[in-house]
Amino acid sequence: MRILFVASEVVPWAKTGGLGDVLGALPKRLRQLGQQVSVVLPRYRGIEAGRRRIASLTVPLGDRLRFCPVYEATCRQVRCFFIDYPPYYDRDGLYLAGQREHPDNAERFALLSLAALELAKRSATAPDVIHCHDWHTSLIPAYLKTIYASDPFFGCTRTLLTIHNLAYQGRFPRSTLRKVSLSNPRLNPGEIELSGKLNFLKAGLVFADKINTVSKKYSREILTPEYGAGLDGVLRTRAGELTGILNGADYDQWDPATDPHLACNYSVHSLEGKQACKRDLLATYGLPRDDRRPLVGIVSRLTGQKGFDLLPHAAPKFIAEGFSLVVLGTGEERYARFFRGLQRKFPNYVSVKIMYHDALAHKVEAGADLFLMPSRYEPCGLNQIYSLKYGTVPVVRATGGLDDTIEDYREDGSGNGFKFSNYDSGELLQAMRRALQVYRSPQRWRDLAGNCMGMDFSWEAAARSYLELYRSLIATGDQGRQ
Ligand code: ADP
Ligand code: GLC
Repeated sequence: MRILFVASEVVPWAKTGGLGDVLGALPKRLRQLGQQVSVVLPRYRGIEAGRRRIASLTVPLGDRLRFCPVYEATCRQVRCFFIDYPPYYDRDGLYLAGQREHPDNAERFALLSLAALELAKRSATAPDVIHCHDWHTSLIPAYLKTIYASDPFFGCTRTLLTIHNLAYQGRFPRSTLRKVSLSNPRLNPGEIELSGKLNFLKAGLVFADKINTVSKKYSREILTPEYGAGLDGVLRTRAGELTGILNGADYDQWDPATDPHLACNYSVHSLEGKQACKRDLLATYGLPRDDRRPLVGIVSRLTGQKGFDLLPHAAPKFIAEGFSLVVLGTGEERYARFFRGLQRKFPNYVSVKIMYHDALAHKVEAGADLFLMPSRYEPCGLNQIYSLKYGTVPVVRATGGLDDTIEDYREDGSGNGFKFSNYDSGELLQAMRRALQVYRSPQRWRDLAGNCMGMDFSWEAAARSYLELYRSLIATGDQGRQ
């Protein structure tokens, strides 16, 4: 099969969160399974790799033509194409300048989507599947069913849209329609607008041949008003084409036995290495060494999604009761302020780094005893999956992928973490207290870490599920297209 991925983030080129991790891993795995895979992304500032493949790709966007050089590099056996358009991509921040969204994000990602289609047309054969991700590339299905509807080149091409996060929708004023080539008489507002605004993600949900999201639980949650972010109605109309496939972890990048960022590599058979990582992490964060205190790690975008509103009540208590905490994150200032305040209050037990730092993220995964993700919602979550591999016990709220991957610890020694149900700081505190009790019994804790490390969330199963999904798409023949 020929599969064309189009996305705004791809590891190792561009990443702000798990989307980049998925795009760095799934295409590689599919390639290993013998598929023809390529990936298209913007040539953001700092991406120097690749050689110029096309001197000038002509892309019609709005009422102008854009001329974009295209660079190509092969990474992890996957061909990556970088769309070069410096006025849009040669700037700091993938989506934001400081705390503010780039004002032309609609045009920036519409250009990426149209450029991917024009690039595809330069090949002798069309892709069987174009796999789109999140709102940034959600217009591709709409373009295929409008601008390119009578283009025989794409006659057999099908689209899959993966929702990594329903809350980010790409909402823009109606006046943007022309600028992104959507003022097409074939489109009616109900298909691309929500509450009076152009909505990229909605367009994708309406026009994609199939839709999936990144865990089974989240695929059910988003059909409800509580999790649907205003799009649950549209999703319900397409429930027959909506599936959930849990993300995997790329153990080439996330394995304590081989991770180059750690002070000491370790495995389930050499857990003393994990203690060395803990000492290294405490030193890196300027905290005193104290082997009796369990160390909690957080690595996260600092947003409301991640459940940090539960912490002002719960964190001072669980720290006073015996935990230490290290935080690595960037995002909303109110959460950064809260964590800095906590550090001032508990200088010996809490240390915070407000920054984005890949190597440090690995050190936290390895050096912490527990990993905290009390998310309000979590489509999949990769950090808890990485934590399992590092023997770092997750404490999570039972939502989305967190619920699908973490099984609550039980007295019989089964389970791989601590889980609470309601979005409630008291329940979080109770989960932390249960964790502390088990931590105080070293043998039980080692067994629990062993349960975690024994789990396999590699991409193998997920990649095969995607293959099946692609096959089912192709099998739909021409009936999906009008
Ligand atoms: P989300 O995609 O919602 O941010 P995930 O758990 O799926 O959540 O993935 C987050 C990814 O981003 C992980 O690979 C994590 O290590 C990384 N990450 C998040 N914040 C930082 C940070 N401040 N520094 C380094 N890596 C980070
Ligand atoms: C999103 C979600 C996260 C998921 C990631 C990769 O950013 O917030 O839960 O793991 O995408 O699919």
